[in-house]
This record gives sequence, structure tokens and C-alpha cells, in this order.
Amino acid sequence: MNFLSDTTAPAHPALIEAISAANTGFAPSYGNDPVSARVETKLKEIFETDLKVLFAVSGTASNALSLSVLCPNHGAILCHDEAHIHRDERGAPEFFTGGGKLIPLLGDHAKVSLDALDRALGEIPEGFVHSSPVRVLSLSNLTESGTAYTPSEVAERASRVKSRPAFVHMDGARFANALVTLNCSPAELTWKAGVDALCFGATKNGAMGAEAIILFPSVMDRFEELQARQKRAGHMAPKMRFLASQFDAWLRDDLWLDLARTANARARRLADGLAQANGVEVLHPVQGNEIFARIPEALGDRLMAAGAGFYQWPDGSCRFVTSWCTEHAEIDALLAAARG
Ligand SMILES: Cc1ncc(COP(=O)(O)O)c(C=O)c1O
Repeated sequence: MNFLSDTTAPAHPALIEAISAANTGFAPSYGNDPVSARVETKLKEIFETDLKVLFAVSGTASNALSLSVLCPNHGAILCHDEAHIHRDERGAPEFFTGGGKLIPLLGDHAKVSLDALDRALGEIPEGFVHSSPVRVLSLSNLTESGTAYTPSEVAERASRVKSRPAFVHMDGARFANALVTLNCSPAELTWKAGVDALCFGATKNGAMGAEAIILFPSVMDRFEELQARQKRAGHMAPKMRFLASQFDAWLRDDLWLDLARTANARARRLADGLAQANGVEVLHPVQGNEIFARIPEALGDRLMAAGAGFYQWPDGSCRFVTSWCTEHAEIDALLAAARG
């Protein structure tokens, strides 16, 4: 009954086999290997556009490095108050941008509201020497409350900042989970809606540890700078073929989408079951693989006593996360414990 986090889940066997298959003979290092090239070609096909990709080992490194090529050290990054880049990365975006200022905005269900965005843009006029100019809007999809921005919600927000010399960054640690819920194309949810750079996460959805920083054509000219910053930060994996090979297997035959669909379906079932329990309130629409619920203390104690793993969230709610390998039996057991 492990609902702590999708990062506690094992890697999918197909990805481990792919690492093993890539482990033959010598191959060029630092991303110049044939597997990396093959994955880049595949990503161009999936996203229906030209792009550049750089593999990384953590979502934090992907976010911080990509933001560092989008935001100058005197610029501002708008994000939601709950954003992982704001709350959970120990200042990495500020560190890697060399001083970029994160400005947290409010909005229900961890989505930046249009009102909050308009207010922030109104309060930070372009060219006012005293304030950090807005250079990036960062959106997480899934959001940190497990909700999904639709393509039009992304586009509405992107269009507001595009009147400035500003870019849109997407933290896609759970991009696959959002995508399969929305039933749109990867292109529609990203560059067609105004996203310039995507941190495309695989780790939470079956990889051992593989993330891809994708630069779409609007910012592809920053690729060399991104590589230089990754190297300088000590985050460039020399044997990059082993990161690329995970993506190679993950993207093959839509495995990444199948895994996300499984995780989402399990979350749906768990949320529906939990909502039946006395006193439980599911706090946000469940649009991916995360459930946030307010549960009576006695019920929380009962679940923990039965061996369920979940997190107490800072706002007093409980977070349950499913993954590609959550079993029905685990959900049955949790719901049985919830019923007492
Ligand atoms: C929304 C979001 N972005 C990024 C990350 C990246 O995390 P890590 O650096 O642990 O790979 C996480 C991990 O929990 C996350 O939830």
C-alpha cells in the first residue's frame, strides 16, 4: 500500500532492458551517441516540430537549467505559489539563474489564475528600473495539486506574457499524466499553446532516472548555452546513452502513455473509493495520478496502522500518489481499511 510518491516506484522492466541493451561496446559520450540521436528524432515526431533535447537525471536540474537559459539574472519568473520550483527545489532556480527572482502567484487547484497573472503584469511594468522584469512564466502540468492545464488554459496564460520579451516554461515532471487525461496531442499542450521549453519527466512514470529538457524552435538557439551550463554545473552525464536508452524504450509503442493511463486510472479508482468514506473530502479534481484529500484524524491513523503509505501535506490534507505499477489489490486494501 505505497501511495507516498511515484518516485518510490520501481523502474519499468522494459527500460532496464533498454539500459542493458545499450551497454554493448563503446559509444560517443556526452549525448553524441546513436541512441540519443534516435530519441531526438522520435521526439520531433511526437511533438511534430523541430526541437533540441538534453537529458538530465533529475527534475530539479531540468527545471533550474532550463530556466537559467530563459531568464537573465535580473529577471523574474512568475509561477504558482505551490510550484515545485518555488517550494521544493531548495533555491536551485535562483542559484542557476544567478539571481532570477521567483514571483509566486495564486490560483485555485495550483493553477495560476488569470486575475493573479494580470495583476502581477500590471504591477511589474516593462522598463521600470526598480522591478525585476518578467522574463518567464512557469506552468506545471500536472500541477502540484494533480490538476491539468488544458491547451487553451496554457495558451491564455502564455499570450499574456508574450507581449513582453518573455518565455513560457513548462514543468512536465508528470506531463504524460496530464496529456492522457486531456486527450490532446503533445504539440497542442506545448509549443502550439506558446510553451518554449518543456521539462519532460520520465522518472515518475517508469524510468530509473531520466528527464529530457526540450527546447522548441523559439529557443533552440539557446541549446549550446544549455549544454555549457549543464556541464559547468556538473550535471552533464558523460555516458548519456544510458539516459537516452530509457527514453528510447519509454517512447516506443506508446509505453509512456500506457503507463500514465494505468497510473491515472488507479488514482481515479482510489479517489472514488476514498470519497465514499465518512468525512473524507477530495480537495482537487483528480486529473492525473495524485489525490489530495482532507481526512478525519482517526481515519488517517487507521490507514497508517493498516500499513498505508501517504504524505501529510503542509495544508493538513493527505496526498496519495499512484504509479504505473500500483496494483488493484493495494487499492482494495486501502479502501477496506478506510471502511473500517
Ligand atoms: C512538479 C514537480 N516538478 C519537478 C519535480 C522534480 O523532482 P526531482 O528533482 O526529485 O526529480 C517534482 C518531484 O517531485 C515534481 O513533483
